Amino acid sequence: MCGIFCFSSNEEINSNTGVNGLKKLEYRGYDSFGAFQINNNKENLTKEIGEVEKFSFPEEIKTKYFLSHTRWATHGKVTKENSHPHLSNDSNIIIVHNGIIENFQELKDSLVYKGYKFKSQTDTEVISNLIQEELTTQNNFLQATNKVCKKITGRYSFVAFNVKTKEMIGVRNGSPLIVGKKGNSIFISSDAPAFFDITNTVSYIDDGQIAYINQKLNQNCIFYKLNSLEEIYKKEIKLEIENQKIHKKNFKHYMLKEIMEQKHTIKRAIETNKEAITKLANLINKKKKVYFIGCGTSAFVGQSSKYIFHDIANLKTDFEISSEFKSIQNFIDKDTIVIGLSQSGETIDTIEALEIAKSKGATTACIVNNENSTMFRICDTAIPVKAGTEIAVASTKSTTSKMAILILTAYSCINKQKIGFNELIRNQALINDMLNPGFEEHIIKIAKKFFHHKHMFVIGKGYNFTVALEGALKIKELSYINTQAFQAGELKHGSIALIEKGTPVIAIAPNDCNQNDVLTSAHEIKSRGGVIIGLSENKSEVFDEFIKVPNCKEGNLMAYTIPLQIFSYHLANFNKFNPDKPRNLAKSVTVK
Ligand code: M6R
Repeated sequence: MCGIFCFSSNEEINSNTGVNGLKKLEYRGYDSFGAFQINNNKENLTKEIGEVEKFSFPEEIKTKYFLSHTRWATHGKVTKENSHPHLSNDSNIIIVHNGIIENFQELKDSLVYKGYKFKSQTDTEVISNLIQEELTTQNNFLQATNKVCKKITGRYSFVAFNVKTKEMIGVRNGSPLIVGKKGNSIFISSDAPAFFDITNTVSYIDDGQIAYINQKLNQNCIFYKLNSLEEIYKKEIKLEIENQKIHKKNFKHYMLKEIMEQKHTIKRAIETNKEAITKLANLINKKKKVYFIGCGTSAFVGQSSKYIFHDIANLKTDFEISSEFKSIQNFIDKDTIVIGLSQSGETIDTIEALEIAKSKGATTACIVNNENSTMFRICDTAIPVKAGTEIAVASTKSTTSKMAILILTAYSCINKQKIGFNELIRNQALINDMLNPGFEEHIIKIAKKFFHHKHMFVIGKGYNFTVALEGALKIKELSYINTQAFQAGELKHGSIALIEKGTPVIAIAPNDCNQNDVLTSAHEIKSRGGVIIGLSENKSEVFDEFIKVPNCKEGNLMAYTIPLQIFSYHLANFNKFNPDKPRNLAKSVTVK
């Protein structure tokens, strides 16, 4: 994963401009960070463990050349040595890297055989040393870097800097890299918002392309194809940055702010997308096979599509976890539509699955929050979620917006978009009412009673099983409580053995055709000592704790997801964990 932020300029820039850019990329990982720069002709390398958020250089430090990186560890522990940038043995080549070099071990072995020493356990360090090795037989940094790219395998992007010649090169081969321009200052970053304080003029580097900057030749950025080194023209795009400035407002954490934004994000998702949804519905109706794919929370939204399309449109759709898509690829052909669900649009497992679908002749579509993302650009049809930037690592508002888009798509498949739209607007009003301060206070009281537990369970049935799955993920990722979701009827076939006196079990029990079954399971659990936290429209005698949720019919998918977001947020708070940045995670998972 990781975030890259670099610049090369013909005039000195305050180094904290670079640090501030890097801070915007922390969502890509926050295990450690590092920077390389040249101040007063002296090279300066900084590496620190933890988040870059509170870091800054002394104000007077300026540089023309800056490479920085925020890390999500893949190869090697979270240590200063493993933090980027990584230097070649002669300290002339500096590398910051995102992605994975799959064949790094054999390349490392051959370099070690030639006498190279390695300071880290990372895959990255082979790139700097391979470039050094290439430069022993030729003087051309661009050609040497290109040659190294022919040797390394995997999905990656990196920026390489030559200290002697001051050339900077960005390579994209599977992980995002974007160039920003202001005069003769060139910025290279994993994501455009990192340089939005400076410029909104950008060029996207595509896979298999190189950006080359040589300030000495007074050249702007030149783009080449990898391998052939054929020069290519890249369009400069002015990105919309108006609503990219994000603040916590009066909320303690981004997560709570984003949860509360669900008072209006569902309406926005459907209001702005009526035509795009009609187009998607027409495509679904034309195809024989419909697959939804996604990871994590987006996967659970995908899984819920099975019930949404069944219940509303009487249509059969399939779902597959993106990282498992390869295993069912034989079913994919030109009569298939594969729909990727994602907040970031950069999740590599989903991108790869969409690429497989394309290669099999399928039509691809995506429902994505980040409109500047790779998925948005590679799919035949893309629907923007319009939830606004999501900063907290845990997905919240983009999740319910995706659900709303799916519900409206199902209605559109049977030419009842208007009915679906009105129903969702009614849901939005009910959710708005639900999200009042008293509701949160009530959930805080329940979280206070249960935050110290080591295990929890969530049960649901039908589409509410996917709510249970999402709720369990939220509790796990935020409060590190081992939480499992079960179909209500399935528990008794074995896992009920885990229930003991005091085990908290959350029962998702809206007033629908599955309610009786869920309540029966709750009784069976209670008889064995379990404590039932019931989410429903009406209190049942089996509930030890009760969270009242309004009846939103199909929209219950959204309405019941939200209290579980609030519950997990407060479980994290009581456990003194940062809900915005849970341990070991990153917002955007760009490695396999
Ligand atoms: O950006 P995406 O929706 O593709 O991300 C998928 C998952 O990585 C993401 O949902 C993850 O599970 C979150 N931590 C959930 O809160």
